[in-house]
Amino acid sequence: MVLAIEVRGLVKIYPGGIKALNGVDLDVDEGIIYALLGPNGAGKTTLIRIITTQLRQTDGYVKVFGHDTSTQGSNVRSLIGYVPQEMSLWSDLTGYENMLIYSKIYGIPSNSRKKIIEELLEFMDLREASNRMVRIYSGGMIRRLEIAIALMHRPRLLVLDEPTIGLDPAARRLVWGKITEYCKEYNMTIFFATHYMDEADRYANYIALMNRGIIIARGKPEELKQNVEGDRITLKLSSIDDNISILNIFSEIEGITILKTDGDTIEFSTSNVSYTLPKILEKLFQNNLKIYEIKIHEATLDDVFIKLTGRRLSEEEYGRYREAITMRKMIRRGS
Ligand SMILES: Nc1ncnc2c1ncn2[C@@H]1O[C@H](COP(=O)(O)OP(=O)(O)O)[C@@H](O)[C@H]1O
Ligand SMILES: [Mg+2]
Repeated sequence: MVLAIEVRGLVKIYPGGIKALNGVDLDVDEGIIYALLGPNGAGKTTLIRIITTQLRQTDGYVKVFGHDTSTQGSNVRSLIGYVPQEMSLWSDLTGYENMLIYSKIYGIPSNSRKKIIEELLEFMDLREASNRMVRIYSGGMIRRLEIAIALMHRPRLLVLDEPTIGLDPAARRLVWGKITEYCKEYNMTIFFATHYMDEADRYANYIALMNRGIIIARGKPEELKQNVEGDRITLKLSSIDDNISILNIFSEIEGITILKTDGDTIEFSTSNVSYTLPKILEKLFQNNLKIYEIKIHEATLDDVFIKLTGRRLSEEEYGRYREAITMRKMIRRGS
């Protein structure tokens, strides 16, 4: 089966010498949702711009459904729907007018434009708003309109760069609900870049973790999380008898690694909490011990990233706040 995206030995050095990609290899199977997850500056947008033929690589190659992006650009573009990181709409036009302009740019035959536009506006829950200026759209509506535009020529591959940047959780869920619904119905492949680990975790079938121009790990979300110590559990037990050693009790339990004990509290890790917890409860019951408090910290992709790079993937709230401000400015400017 031909790959939706095949990237080999990709290097990009920008004029001025910044090496944004330093040998990237990727295989994206058809029909899956593939996330490129990495912090700001990792090289995600650079990779996406090369895949979508907007930028030339310094070395290596990219093929989209077997078509080389360097030599068969127009074939590649006809197969891809692309939603850029920055806003790509005219804010002083209505949603419908934006779609109409893009339908002409994309060469959609004039006799089918109206039908395609109306169907997509309906699908994206934008029909009611379609005759209003984009200027007054919310961030989520803007994203949904951009996705509708990217889907007009029925692409086999949808490429999204930070699709939900600056959106609140409800708007993010709605955007993703629409994307996944469409993807299922038309067996479309999705390739998206994000620095939100929860977004990659929740929606992607497969993830490539990117840092400083290289892929540092790849796999299904569960596979990636198995690279770290696993789920961490803290138990606070009630009324510990001085003669009882928690350490002794817990060291008999299979499948856990004790991280810390402190009086009546124990912290341990396990690769599979749903399998280990029943055994623990049984052991505690046998020893007449009761749980007073339980905290479960499930492994995240951030844990994986920290283990591999020593850096956090997720940014502090300030980062998100800045993004929201930037997004609003872009909307106002209509750029
Ligand atoms: N047009 C450009 N000219 C020079 N350097 C660039 C350009 N675009 C991006 N870079 C640099 O390349 C690196 C990767 O950027 P980018 O691909 O935008 O990463 P990401 O999308 O993961 O945040 C960064 O160091 C960035 O500053
Ligand atoms: Mg980017």
